[in-house]
Amino acid sequence: MSKSVPHGGKLINRMNLNVASDFSLNYVDLDNVELSDLELIANGAYSPLEGFMGKADYESVVNNMRLANGLPWSLPITLAIDRNKAEGLRRGETINLVHNGMVYGVMEVTETFSPDKTWEAANVYQTTDMAHPGVKKLFERPEIYLAGPITLIKRAEPNKFHSYYLDPIQTRERFQTLGWNTVVGFQTRNPVHRAHEYIQKSALEIVDGLFLNPLVGETKSDDIPSEIRMESYQVLLENYYPKNRVFLSVFPAAMRYAGPREAIFHSLVRKNFGCTHFIVGRDHAGVGNYYGTYDAQKIFSHFNEEELGIKPLFFEHSFYCKKCENMASEKTCPHDQQFHVILSGTKVRGMLKNGEQPPKEFSRPEVVEILIQGMKTVLTKN
Ligand code: ADX
Repeated sequence: MSKSVPHGGKLINRMNLNVASDFSLNYVDLDNVELSDLELIANGAYSPLEGFMGKADYESVVNNMRLANGLPWSLPITLAIDRNKAEGLRRGETINLVHNGMVYGVMEVTETFSPDKTWEAANVYQTTDMAHPGVKKLFERPEIYLAGPITLIKRAEPNKFHSYYLDPIQTRERFQTLGWNTVVGFQTRNPVHRAHEYIQKSALEIVDGLFLNPLVGETKSDDIPSEIRMESYQVLLENYYPKNRVFLSVFPAAMRYAGPREAIFHSLVRKNFGCTHFIVGRDHAGVGNYYGTYDAQKIFSHFNEEELGIKPLFFEHSFYCKKCENMASEKTCPHDQQFHVILSGTKVRGMLKNGEQPPKEFSRPEVVEILIQGMKTVLTKN
């Protein structure tokens, strides 16, 4: 496979930054997640979506991971408002999409509908447990979904990550300039540890370039803040990666923690950014014990490669083996678990908060240094 085609055939562009805000219009407030979705619909990262989902797409996506037209799509992208607000809106009306008092976009209202949240949670998250961060968030949202095509008129936080904030049209151009026909996308909400590095570099043995695309939208409160992570990626790339084979830019979406379904979503979106391949390792986008270690890989068997249009690269749980003196997985290492350096995310976060260094077999010392300093700053601020 070479050169990726956007999902649905063309890259959507719903931006018009020359439009002045019209404060006489009705408005609805967006939360952080909806604001990031607005931006990602507008810049084509969510192609073929042109707005927040209507009932037909929503039900089809929740039911069988396809849009109403049959295209694969695994997560609902919706805008939630209060019933009172919904009663004041008319079909066909243009409204402002507002966040913190600023108008970021406009939307043509096509419909409002009441979602069955228990059904949505059970299908999308495979649980209705309120301890699941995605389920909790879903039930905290207002009760009516508002649908319609959007236009972005103001960019959100354009300067937060400076040059690392690129639209799909720009990443596609960069991959072309770099001469990459095959590009593997890597989603992460964590610092890049040795296991991540190992699977990325294994993939780099077979494709032209690596697109390191950390998620920097809303994450749960105990995940490491994106500013600290970004610094750790930069130092890692400087010291351990060939310069002309990796491209770093941010993915400003929120994390849903929907495990398998989010793996499909992540891969389709990275196709829109221009990737031909996508890495799915252990418990991709998982949280707690809600998903099996390889469920996010198994779910790809629901689709054929052609309709996804991006090739998933599956990796087993990887670790450093003291006997092999190397990174390895069950596929390549014959030794007992006692020789494997395996630390949970919770354990590592705890160590970093206490200023303790995780072993160098787990994380590069340069990365650890930045994480410890960064966590100190966070702890002082809070
Ligand atoms: S995620 O929630 O964004 O998926 P994370 O940043 O931990 O979380 O993982 C990024 C990618 O690396 C995912 O595809 C995940 O499955 C994979 N991964 C993380 N740790 C390992 C590991 N030890 N072995 C193999 N794959 C891993």
